[in-house]
Amino acid sequence: MIFNLSAQNTIANQFLSELRDKDIQADRAKFRKNMKRLGQLMAYEISKKLSFNDQVIETPLGQSLLKVPSRHPVLLTVLRAGIPYFDGFLDYFDQSDCGFIGAYRDEGTEEIVIQLEYVATPRVKDKEVIVIDPMLATGRSFVRSINAMIKKGRPSHIFIAALVAAPEGIQYIKENLDIPHSIYTCALDENLNHQFYIVPGLGDAGDLSFGIKL
Ligand code: URA
Repeated sequence: MIFNLSAQNTIANQFLSELRDKDIQADRAKFRKNMKRLGQLMAYEISKKLSFNDQVIETPLGQSLLKVPSRHPVLLTVLRAGIPYFDGFLDYFDQSDCGFIGAYRDEGTEEIVIQLEYVATPRVKDKEVIVIDPMLATGRSFVRSINAMIKKGRPSHIFIAALVAAPEGIQYIKENLDIPHSIYTCALDENLNHQFYIVPGLGDAGDLSFGIKL
């Protein structure tokens, strides 16, 4: 299942357009803020698929019966580009256990090789997990990160939360992930260029958020 937030006309498209605009994205604070806002909206969309329990709330004037999420999903993000988008999810799922993975791709090679340097993940067995990485380009870093995480147990469902997704990445995930999953993105783009950047995309999400790395 693939959910595309920009298929509907909502305020999310305003945030997405500002993230893509090469003049507006020069404002780093605004770029991070828009990433975070889209993380919040995506958390809201994913929350519709969680399991809910009845809860009776005592108000000052009586009782209110509400359905509330049975438990918050585990959040897993990829350093460093994922941080502002993850921050939006954490605003809504504010009691979630969180995991962090330091992944980068070897640049200048014909093949995409993802290196993992830091893996700190909580217990995920039989839980719902949201894997948060703004750019679903080749799909390799998503799959590598998930494989590192499932060494500690298999989640019941994985929500892949991208901001922009390329068809190549979606295909790679379909072929290489055997855990029940669904893909949530704010935009479905055209393809990858020869350096494996998403076109039209938005550029390098990590550099735009935090500055060019050496
Ligand atoms: N990572 C990015 O930051 N941008 C892309 O287009 C692809 C991967």
